[in-house]
Amino acid sequence: MERIGILFYSRTGTGRATAQRLASISSWPAYEVRDAVPRAGLSGDWRCVADTLLRRCPDIRYEGPPLDSFDHVVIIAPVWLRSLAAPMRTFLTMQGRLIKAYSVICVMSGYGGFRAVDDVATIVGTRPRSILLLKQYDVLAEECDASLCRFREQTRAAGSAQRDDPVLPAVD
Ligand SMILES: Cc1cc2nc3c(=O)[nH]c(=O)nc-3n(C[C@H](O)[C@H](O)[C@H](O)COP(=O)(O)O)c2cc1C
Repeated sequence: MERIGILFYSRTGTGRATAQRLASISSWPAYEVRDAVPRAGLSGDWRCVADTLLRRCPDIRYEGPPLDSFDHVVIIAPVWLRSLAAPMRTFLTMQGRLIKAYSVICVMSGYGGFRAVDDVATIVGTRPRSILLLKQYDVLAEECDASLCRFREQTRAAGSAQRDDPVLPAVD
């Protein structure tokens, strides 16, 4: 049986809600990447902007298993300034090369998701097997179940695919 794990970063809860919903419909375990220094309030907002513009890799905390213990990982992260959220960039810089196969879900207000997925692919060094872009409004309104179910099926189908197989089309 394929070992699939969900790895997520979330500052304000959208990515976390997505990870929890996907975990509940798939039974895949979910592990959180956290900020070493919390990003609450206006100063937290500014740090998000500065980390993104300066391409910094801020300190993080992660207590889950190493990524090479999974056959396939699902990366869930927000879009910041049309880029991958900086804490997930740190995490993937540390562990991305251990990934055997992966898929990506980006949560966002509405734009820049594919550029954030490009960031993930650049750091990991291979392309994702499937991609899902979710708008925060839809996640908070709990209107993503159909998309998440399709993503789950695509991820299961892609789990054993070889790295040089064609990438599956984005869900939605
Ligand atoms: C600094 C910053 C930059 C952002 N830039 C974008 C953006 O370029 N495009 C977008 O659609 N949403 C952007 N957002 C909104 C977040 O992607 C969105 O609120 C997301 O759902 C947050 O996920 P979280 O609740 O898991 O932290 C930005 C948010 C922050 C804090």
